[in-house]
Amino acid sequence: MPESNPFRVALSSDFRQPDGSPTFRDFDLAPLKDAAGVEMAFLDEANPLRADQLADFDALILLAHRLTAESIPANGRLAVVARFGVGYDTVDVPALTRACIPLVITPDGVRRPVAVSILTLMLALTGKLLAKDRLTRMAAAGFAQRNQHMGIGLVGRTLGSVGIGNIGAEMFRLAKPLDMRFIAHDPYADPKVAAELGVEFVALDEVFRQADILCVNCPLSEGTRHLVNAERLALMKPTAYLINTARGPIVDQRALTAVLAAGRIAGAGLDVLEQEPPDPDDPILKLDNAILTPHALCWTDQCFAGNGAADVRAVLEVQRGNVPRGVVNREVLEDPRWTARLEGYRRRFGAG
Ligand SMILES: NC(=O)c1ccc[n+]([C@@H]2O[C@H](COP(=O)([O-])OP(=O)(O)OC[C@H]3O[C@@H](n4cnc5c(N)ncnc54)[C@H](O)[C@@H]3O)[C@@H](O)[C@H]2O)c1
Repeated sequence: MPESNPFRVALSSDFRQPDGSPTFRDFDLAPLKDAAGVEMAFLDEANPLRADQLADFDALILLAHRLTAESIPANGRLAVVARFGVGYDTVDVPALTRACIPLVITPDGVRRPVAVSILTLMLALTGKLLAKDRLTRMAAAGFAQRNQHMGIGLVGRTLGSVGIGNIGAEMFRLAKPLDMRFIAHDPYADPKVAAELGVEFVALDEVFRQADILCVNCPLSEGTRHLVNAERLALMKPTAYLINTARGPIVDQRALTAVLAAGRIAGAGLDVLEQEPPDPDDPILKLDNAILTPHALCWTDQCFAGNGAADVRAVLEVQRGNVPRGVVNREVLEDPRWTARLEGYRRRFGAG
C-alpha cells in the first residue's frame, strides 16, 4: 500500500536529457525507487532552483543547477540537499545552514576518478602524448620528427599541489610508485595525512617555484579565486606544467594563456576553464601546449555510480532518522531543529 505521507526526494532536472533519458546511465535510482515510504520526482527546468518547486520535498539530489537563498522553501520541509560530486560553489551554504539543512557531498565517489584524471593529464603532458599521436597520423613525415618531441621522465621530479584534501591526497597516493618528490601547500590540511604520504609542506610561492608538475586541488572560494595569477605563474620553471582539475576561476586564465603562448612554462592540462563552455574564440583553444578536457575527464561509469550511490545512501539515511556521511555544514548537526527533524523521520520510517 502506498505511504500516505511519503518521504519525497527531488532530483534536479539536469539528471535527465531533453529527450527524457538519464544524463548518467550508471546512476542507479533503483534503491531510491524501491525504498519503502519513498517517492521520487524530477524537477522541471529552472536555474537557479525555485522555492515553490522544492516546497513539497524532504530531500533534493542536485547536479549542476544553482541553489540560492531564494531557492529554499520557507515551510521547513526540505531536510537535506545532496550534491552529486564534491564541488558546491553553486550552492549558498550559509543560507542552507540558516535553514538548518545539511549539504551532503560525495567525496567517496570522486576521489579516485579525479585523482586518476590528474595522473592522466600529467602522463599525457610529460609523455607528449597528443603531439606523438599527431606525428603518427602524418606517417613517414611524422616519424621523421620524433626526436623533436622528447618526453620528460618523472623520477626525482617534483609533484606539487595546492591543496591536499580528498583528491590531492589520493593523487599523491596513486603517484607513489613514480618515485617523485612530493610538496604541497595547504593551510588547513591534516599533517598526519601529509606525513604518511611523504608530502613536504612548503609556502604557497614555493610550490610554484619548485614544482615540475603543479596541480590545483583546492576549492574555489573568494580566497582562492585567481590564486594562480600572473605573479605566481612567473615563479614557475620554464619546464613546468600546470594541471587544474579543481575549478576554472582559481586560475587567472588570461594570465595562463599569456605564459603558455609565450612558452614561459612548458604546458598545461585543464579539465576546468574560467568560462564553461568556453567562447569558441577563446585563445586558449588555439594553444598546442595545453591539453583541454570539458570538465569531464573524471566521468566514468564508476564515478557516476559512486556519486549516485553516495547521494541515495545519504537521503535514505535521513529518511530513517540517521545522520548522513559527507555533511559540509556540520554546525547544522548541533541544531535542535535538525535533531527534532531526524526524530520525526525516525518515528515515521526508522527500523524497529
Ligand atoms: N574536475 C572535476 O570533475 C572535479 C570533480 C570533483 C571535484 N573537483 C574539484 O576538486 C577540488 C578538490 O576537491 P576535494 O574533494 O579534494 O576537496 P577537499 O575539500 O577534500 O580538499 C581541498 C583542500 O584544499 C585546501 N585548501 C583550501 N583553501 C586553500 C588554499 N587557499 N590554499 C591551499 N589549499 C587550500 C583544504 O584545506 C583542503 O585540504 C575542488 O575544487 C573540487 O571542486 C573537480
